[in-house]
Amino acid sequence: MTEWPGDGKGEKGKAVWSELDIPAAWEQSAAAILRHRWRKILVLGAIDRGKSTYCVFLSRYLLAAGHRIAFVDADIGQKDLGPPATVALGYAETPQALAAMTPAALYFVGSVTPAGHLLPMVVGTKLLVEAARAPFVIINTTGLVHGIGQVLKGYKIEAVQPDVIVALSQGNELHALTRAYSTYRIFHLAPSPRARAKTPEQRRAARELAFYRYFQAASDVVLPRRALLFQRTPAPVAPDKPLLCGVADRRNRCLGLALLQDWDVRHDTLTLRTPVAAERIRVVQYGDLYLTPEGHELGRR
Ligand SMILES: Nc1ncnc2c1ncn2[C@@H]1O[C@H](COP(=O)(O)OP(=O)(O)OP(=O)(O)O)[C@@H](O)[C@H]1O
Ligand SMILES: [Mg+2]
Repeated sequence: MTEWPGDGKGEKGKAVWSELDIPAAWEQSAAAILRHRWRKILVLGAIDRGKSTYCVFLSRYLLAAGHRIAFVDADIGQKDLGPPATVALGYAETPQALAAMTPAALYFVGSVTPAGHLLPMVVGTKLLVEAARAPFVIINTTGLVHGIGQVLKGYKIEAVQPDVIVALSQGNELHALTRAYSTYRIFHLAPSPRARAKTPEQRRAARELAFYRYFQAASDVVLPRRALLFQRTPAPVAPDKPLLCGVADRRNRCLGLALLQDWDVRHDTLTLRTPVAAERIRVVQYGDLYLTPEGHELGRR
């Protein structure tokens, strides 16, 4: 998981900020966004191109100019805000507040990759962008930009209707996508030479750690099945391994994640492991990732 570097730590914060390489074209894009008040900024790029770093940079740039920012993190695998498998919305008012940003709203997608979850990716991103109340809304996305990812990004653009797209690309890798959507305002930016690739193992470890931290505060809650509503799957079944689910309240607002551990048929009760208060849970949204509370991914449903 990319940390929001150094914010709120005074001199240390400054030092960490200065460790980032900010190419002149990045700075120019931020200056134009601020000057023209382009509100919805969609950041696209393949993996490791610096999407998260650009979002941090742009957030700090706009915050330093005195503007509150909303951040919508739709990179469900490599999260900067909120737990994996969710789209998350958060706010910051000052550069110092960036590091402490917590989700104001979540949308459960169902898994940690968009494949098989294109609809919730688009629906969740659109809903949280619409819900955002701030002069600037910065939207981060997954690095899946080819094949099905290209299709997803196209629909995301159409759903979100960004005022500007920031495309971080090496060579022509985003050409097909950005050409198809060249009706939109697009900044084509090169990644920083300081951009570093993460291995698949590092990505998995980052997700595991994020899940582990999230479920550290969880406990087992036993709920009568009849008190619950089930979404996202036509016929809910008892899983033989802990299944990642979303939980929502009686107004269908996502409250967070849960692991569906057991379905006691005799007592007709479900056991969920979740940090969410049991009395708030009305809806269970089935995901398709089996997961231990320690964050080990056990395969897909
Ligand atoms: N401008 C920069 N200055 C310094 N380091 C950078 C810069 N851009 C990227 N990096 C480094 O390169 C790595 C990848 O960057 P980053 O995590 O921002 O990419 P990403 O596109 O968000 O990746 P992911 O696909 O995993 O979400 C990180 O270690 C980051 O610190
Ligand atoms: Mg990222």
